[in-house]
Amino acid sequence: MLDLRSDTVTKPSDAMREAMASAPVGDDVLDGDPTLAALQSRVADLLGVEAALWTPTGCMANAIALMYHLERGDRFLAPAGAHVLEAELGTSAWLAGGLPTPLPVRPEPADVLRSAGGASPYFGLRSRLLCLENTHNAGGGAVTPVGEHTALVEAARSAGLRVHLDGARVWHAAVALDVPVASLVAGVDTVSVCLSKGLGAPMGSVVAGSAEFVSAAWRLRKMLGGGIRQGGVVGAAGLVALEQIADLAADHEHATLLADGLREQGWPVSTPDTNIVLVTTDAPGPVVGKLADVGVAAVPFGPGVRFVTHRDVSRADVETVLERVAGLPVP
Ligand SMILES: Cc1ncc(COP(=O)(O)O)c(C=O)c1O
Repeated sequence: MLDLRSDTVTKPSDAMREAMASAPVGDDVLDGDPTLAALQSRVADLLGVEAALWTPTGCMANAIALMYHLERGDRFLAPAGAHVLEAELGTSAWLAGGLPTPLPVRPEPADVLRSAGGASPYFGLRSRLLCLENTHNAGGGAVTPVGEHTALVEAARSAGLRVHLDGARVWHAAVALDVPVASLVAGVDTVSVCLSKGLGAPMGSVVAGSAEFVSAAWRLRKMLGGGIRQGGVVGAAGLVALEQIADLAADHEHATLLADGLREQGWPVSTPDTNIVLVTTDAPGPVVGKLADVGVAAVPFGPGVRFVTHRDVSRADVETVLERVAGLPVP
């Protein structure tokens, strides 16, 4: 089976497994773990922020940021389909207390200003936070370029909002645009990034921002049960993952190869910005079933089917996928 369901299926490389086996560790709940500390400091440098904190998952990283920013009675804005809106079991609402207002999938500054509204009476919702996502998973791995990012952050500021960036795949955006990742984080209050998706670590995300935010984040992480004692064992894989950022360019090439090949066969397919290819169909279940029959794993995704290229899928694998798909009815 060629597994293109997600870039989260990537297995740790030999280099990662070796780094994990020999990682210096401490007790991160008591007084710190040297490998996690090194990872956090490396990520903070890459993102151009003061401080960072490792978390076991991206959902926990986002939950920590939203719990920090929001109180009950607050409103937050996020692009339609955002992971925090659709795929985190509503924790933004019932855990962090925010009522979500969806923006267009690709919001413009005017959308932010309109949805933030003005001052409201004491019984109205207080618009507090803009939560961006780059790349946008449900938007097909869509990239928000630096200029658009900056304009959205400025609009949020002028409406009195804070900004959190769900940057689970911001590495992909930086590689696709060929810009430093820090330029896609500029101006935000908090950012979460994932090590366990295209970068291939078995687990781990990082939430980052000011030193003041990160000291609050330590408490919030503990509250969520996310303090990991000898976390350096997995943190070591994260350090290796950061060495693999440039490799994402190959995943993007493979996604384009896949999309072009599917389109040539008549499939209604998106043009990928990064490593996610979406097929439009009103029968995602049967399409995924037929793909599985020929040894290709994809997932039903919103009103379609999603393929994700990643480091465990080679160019030759993508060519094999296209050969196998050639025998299938066009969705
Ligand atoms: C955009 C985005 N944010 C956050 C997450 C959550 O990451 P995790 O599965 O590590 O909780 C995901 C996972 O797919 C994601 O795609």
